[in-house]
Amino acid sequence: MNVGVLVSGSGTNLQALIDRGQRGELGPANLVVVGCNVPDCPALARAKLAAVPSFVVDHRDYPERPPFDRALVAALRAHQVDLVVLAGFNRLLGKDLLDAFPGRVVNIHPALLPAFPGVRAQRQAFDAGVKIAGCTVHFVDHGVDTGPIIAQAAVRVQDDDDDEALRLRILAEEHRLLPAVVRAIAERRVVLEGRRVRVLGATPATDPLRSL
Ligand code: GAR
Repeated sequence: MNVGVLVSGSGTNLQALIDRGQRGELGPANLVVVGCNVPDCPALARAKLAAVPSFVVDHRDYPERPPFDRALVAALRAHQVDLVVLAGFNRLLGKDLLDAFPGRVVNIHPALLPAFPGVRAQRQAFDAGVKIAGCTVHFVDHGVDTGPIIAQAAVRVQDDDDDEALRLRILAEEHRLLPAVVRAIAERRVVLEGRRVRVLGATPATDPLRSL
């Protein structure tokens, strides 16, 4: 299964996928291309270092969303991408992209959805005073972080945490969860039944509360 990863930032989740792939731990998932909407994005350097092809579709060149989406679709299709992984991609995707990859776009979000969707999710959780936080990998639908949940990992919020400490603890779980989900999808172990997703043969790596 050919995987295309879309990024906008530092790319540590991308790095987790690269590292697992290099160690042969992504099963039949093959990271074929990295796409970015920010020309000088640090994640692009990670792709280059790992010799993974990359492309940039700068959103500032596309005042309207549909042409931006279509440019992404064209670039992903040029690399025969089967599965699109949003790993810190900071643009909302529209109908054109979702229709081009039906049921084959997943996102990692740094909160236990459906709580704290949208931006600065870790900060939202911290400010809300929750005692358990975490991350979610979900299928992308037309809403903001509303698609069917595939897997979640939880972390405890410590009394002496600041929001940065919490962000980093969640991020470490993201690096474990996202590759595990990508592998499970590539191994055809992820079954979507309405809003519910079953991960067949789930290992501790995809167990929601393993980290507690
Ligand atoms: C990650 O924490 C990811 O969950 C988050 O952006 C960060 C990207 O970090 N994504 C979102 O907030 C999407 N709503 P990275 O570039 O180091 O992987």
